[in-house]
Amino acid sequence: MTDITDIKIFDTTLRDGEQSPGVNLNKQEKLEIAKQLERLGVDVIEAGFPASSEGDFQAVKLIADTIKKSSVTALARTKKHDIDRAYEALKNTPSPRIHIFLATSPIHREFKLKMDKQQVIDTSVEMVKYSKTLFNEVEWSAEDASRTELPFLAEIIEAVIEAGASIINLPDTVGYTTPEEYGEMFRYVSENVPNINQAILSTHCHNDLGMAVANSIAGIENGATQIECSINGIGERAGNAALEEIAVALHIRGDAYPYTTNLNLQEIKRSSDVVAKLTGMTVQPNKAIIGRNAYAHESGIHQDGMLKNAETYEIISPALVGVSADSANTLFLGKHSGRHAFKDKVKSFNVELSDEELSAAFKNFKALTDHKKEVTDDDIYSIIMEIKTDA
Ligand code: KIV
Ligand code: ZN
Repeated sequence: MTDITDIKIFDTTLRDGEQSPGVNLNKQEKLEIAKQLERLGVDVIEAGFPASSEGDFQAVKLIADTIKKSSVTALARTKKHDIDRAYEALKNTPSPRIHIFLATSPIHREFKLKMDKQQVIDTSVEMVKYSKTLFNEVEWSAEDASRTELPFLAEIIEAVIEAGASIINLPDTVGYTTPEEYGEMFRYVSENVPNINQAILSTHCHNDLGMAVANSIAGIENGATQIECSINGIGERAGNAALEEIAVALHIRGDAYPYTTNLNLQEIKRSSDVVAKLTGMTVQPNKAIIGRNAYAHESGIHQDGMLKNAETYEIISPALVGVSADSANTLFLGKHSGRHAFKDKVKSFNVELSDEELSAAFKNFKALTDHKKEVTDDDIYSIIMEIKTDA
């Protein structure tokens, strides 16, 4: 029997997600999202970056003072000032975690940090040690890990674990890597860092090439046990790995992926709605899991299959993620729809039509679809009533 591994979900909607251009949440809005994330069952809430602004400091503090079930963390650069601000913001939460990061890739070392490898190691080690004087749990991230030389990555990870880091996050900061390469990085680190068993490994993937979810899953298949992700996949540029896609992929394809999470899947749609409403970032209609069309079938062939057995075309039941039957709009009536789905709709209005009436109503409905993008229930009801009245 395959062992089932428990995967920790680290949600960064309120930190990386809030770094989406145009998103700016006030502290009450951040708290509302944090409470929903707690109901969703995320293990870790990254509440923000306290040193970045007084407003974000206050928001992180409010969340840390309120949230009890999820661990609350905050981001800090490898600078004492940032770590002190994070400590002040997080000190009242039951299980605080500091998340510090420093870039490791050649391009970041040379052009952004102007540091050599040894300076990157020394700074990271010194700041992990300093963090350990304030926090039990220290997460260290190798920014741009996926473009870092693997032997150097192994060397610095060994040093920061030795210094006290117990979570090692390896971001694909620019969303450049492929699932094979990202998985290979975790395999290499697991096999080449002697003290790796003293830490847990974490994924953090950006979606620039649309591979963030696949990369995150490749990470856990190669030794990571924490996934960093965000609701609706919001985040810098093209965003982060979408929490809802990871959660449902692991659930639906449990045969291929032997992993569990503590997430309450029923809260997914509500979480998506709250984040979309408060950030103003609307969800594309065809977005997997939570898009308006994710459960809507339009063509006659698909609808006929659905009416005979939903499993012909539906791999996820909308109810699984808290999408109501009404909003799932499973049998969407449009110009490709067939008579079976139309008949089913007529039945839902509790109206009896003879075969001839049904044929006439269906003909009128088809004619309307040529002129109108979206035929509503009201339109269909009017068509039926006109036929009844004319009869
Ligand atoms: O993408 C990234 O590298 C990050 C780090 C700050 C963790 O968001
Ligand atoms: Zn990121």
